[in-house]
Amino acid sequence: MDLMTEIRQNARQLKKTIVLPEAMDSRVLKAASQAKNEGLANIVLLGNADEINKKAAGLDLEGITIINPEKSDKSSYYVDQLVEIRKKKGMTHEKAAELIKNPLYYGAMMVKLGDADGMVAGAVNTTGDVLRPALQIIKTAPGISVVSSCFIMQVLYKEFGHDGVLLFADCAVNPSPTAEQLASIAVTSANTAKSLIGMEPKVAMLSFSTKGSAQHELVDKVVEATKLAKEMVPDVTIDGEIQADAALVKEVGSLKCPGSSVAGKANVLVFPDLQAANIGYKLVQRLGKAEAIGPVCQGMAKPVNDLSRGCSVEDVVNVIAITAVQAQNL
Ligand code: ACO
Repeated sequence: MDLMTEIRQNARQLKKTIVLPEAMDSRVLKAASQAKNEGLANIVLLGNADEINKKAAGLDLEGITIINPEKSDKSSYYVDQLVEIRKKKGMTHEKAAELIKNPLYYGAMMVKLGDADGMVAGAVNTTGDVLRPALQIIKTAPGISVVSSCFIMQVLYKEFGHDGVLLFADCAVNPSPTAEQLASIAVTSANTAKSLIGMEPKVAMLSFSTKGSAQHELVDKVVEATKLAKEMVPDVTIDGEIQADAALVKEVGSLKCPGSSVAGKANVLVFPDLQAANIGYKLVQRLGKAEAIGPVCQGMAKPVNDLSRGCSVEDVVNVIAITAVQAQNL
């Protein structure tokens, strides 16, 4: 069965509640209607009900909850809670009352306080604007130091990864991770591979060097990250530093990295920084005609996912299903 079909099927069993703060975007409205009709999740739209219903003319929104952050009964409770959560950062009642009118902050508070299981946004807002409230309010999962992201890549050639499925990280969040952060990204990505895709992770810590073939401080960072990641999760198969060809191709792997349990078999590729990861996934997507599902945010205490502003209705529906499954796994 196709991976997304499987994830959608899982989501259907879970009946999670997903909040969509960008209710005035027509793709989001269509996706909300489709997700509700397919039973992927209970949907909450944030905004003015009259305006949303007008924009959604012809769409079936029955069974979807609409909440206006500016008028909601819960707003004052959320304001108090936001002040409490951010008081060490100088949050005042006035600032919180202003922020809570922003659907991205209201949605993050809903997730934090258990009124929704996850949030999906980014069709209209930038990655930074979607993630900032989530990072400030929902924060990282226990034991995880950094929120990161991954793409699930479905390539045309089944000999790569797990039957043609690979996970690339971190393609969207941390511009220049330290060795500790890179180790955390590797550990979180291995978790995502297991819990969302159901594959046994074989994690490659990518570099332009394989096992000392080049000396450079950039390589040292990956060597250190590999060591830390192995210490954090000794039962997970992780190896590095390793070049992409040695990680993916059996013959090259056995030549450059003999005896490695990852070389030639990697299904989780951890890139050394955001430039490499973001460029890498787009090259594979465009030149290799791979399907790129994501970015999937990982490492948060509760799931929030960021859409691309170029997303389609189908992308939004997929991310709603992914968020529901992540909510269950957390
Ligand atoms: N993990 C956990 N917490 C974090 C992280 C992280 N990765 N990054 C920031 N935070 C926390 C900070 O500790 C801070 O918490 P505090 O206020 O409680 O102290 C809070 O989040 C805000 O931190 P800032 O540094 O002010 O965050 P910033 O405003 O710089 O935003 C962001 C963080 C949005 C993740 C930023 O790093 C960013 O813009 N990254 C790149 C996103 C991007 O443009 N990606 C490429 C496009 S996406 C694509 O192509 C698919």
